[in-house]
Amino acid sequence: TEMAGMGHMEHMAGMENSPAEGELSCDSLTAPESSAPIRKFELTAAQTTLKLANGEKVKAWTFNGSSPGPELRVTEGNRVVITLHNKDIEDGVTIHFHGIKVPCSQDGIAGLTQDAVLPGGQFTYTFIATTPGTYWYHSHQMSSIQVSKGLLGALIVEPKTGYQSDAPISDTTVLYQQLDSSMLVNGRAEGIAVPGQPGEQARLRLINAGNETMEFNIDGASFRGVAMDGHDLHEPGLLEGVRVPIGAGQRYDLLIQVPNTGKVIISSPMAKNLPITIGSGSEPQHSDGGQLFSFIDYGTPLPNDTTLYVQPDRLFNLELGQNLFVKSINGKAFSDIPPMIVKEGDHVRINVSNRGGGDHPFHIHGHVFRVLSKNGVALRGSPVYLDTLLTKEGETYELYLEADNPGLWMVHCHNLKHASMGMSMMLDYE
Ligand code: C2O
Ligand code: CU
Repeated sequence: TEMAGMGHMEHMAGMENSPAEGELSCDSLTAPESSAPIRKFELTAAQTTLKLANGEKVKAWTFNGSSPGPELRVTEGNRVVITLHNKDIEDGVTIHFHGIKVPCSQDGIAGLTQDAVLPGGQFTYTFIATTPGTYWYHSHQMSSIQVSKGLLGALIVEPKTGYQSDAPISDTTVLYQQLDSSMLVNGRAEGIAVPGQPGEQARLRLINAGNETMEFNIDGASFRGVAMDGHDLHEPGLLEGVRVPIGAGQRYDLLIQVPNTGKVIISSPMAKNLPITIGSGSEPQHSDGGQLFSFIDYGTPLPNDTTLYVQPDRLFNLELGQNLFVKSINGKAFSDIPPMIVKEGDHVRINVSNRGGGDHPFHIHGHVFRVLSKNGVALRGSPVYLDTLLTKEGETYELYLEADNPGLWMVHCHNLKHASMGMSMMLDYE
């Protein structure tokens, strides 16, 4: 039957495995030694009944009693040490640090890089927070279930030097998630107010931790998109009346000028009752059908940018699509999709096309890739570096990555339902 088929698929997908009996694949690669300042955290996964502000009670799986779990805020260069405990999540739990270039052994993939942590157990992750930006963490054991049950949180790496700006900046993480069927922002079932005085700048770190693409309207102020997936954009220009599409798993950092009069309202049709407001003046006019933001020509190119002309050592073509009940890559489902095999130092070109079956936010573990072109048109603005690329039906992208993090890595759609329905594969080093 269909259900049995899905269950089978879930079991087969490495990301959905129960604890493996066999060999783990990169336990020889451990976190590097370093004398960097240490930041320690303890996260305990447990079943919890959460009471939302509207009185509704939901059964959730939480880190330290809440979903999202605590925001982990560290400084660039810190050695981050996180001990995961599992109180009572029967299938076991792991933590994956989405977007962070960790050593393979710290990547949190149940059955691949570690065994899932069973009730009563623990596992300590260590990595150096090398690249400032907005990231998040989530369980990677049966992730399509565990993430929607609440096992996730924000991970922010602040730059060592702080942010350069002529105006004071507030800095707020805004995490949207789908807890079973309730949309929440920062764990709340109603909107949030972000502090901001006229003349200040508000940095919003938007994280889409759900499975669906969200489009945001920013009304009442002009703004800049300053970073995508934690990576700064070069000389981002002012935007106004523009909708910002954020794929599942992606992050956008926006810098918003707080107006002297009036307030800013950021809203999404996907999360109607969860607007973000900044300032306290009168309501701005709502602009629904603004233009869709595109990074194709946003910002300015870097001078002497040579990556664009690098000859690839390896070339992979991936078609994301669907056949029957399976979300597929090149017509196959996990674990029948041949891995991409590279060797350390390779320049790797990956062509990704979306051949249907919905939006596919394409995510690669352990690496950051650069978007070279979209639909055959080379990017004309800032270089764009991502760990998760939103692809819509019919779109094609050329990506570039440097094979600089040996190990065995997952590559999958970050609509985690799609991932569990087969749209997962591996990136391996020879
Ligand atoms: Cu957030 Cu395997 O992903
Ligand atoms: Cu998908």
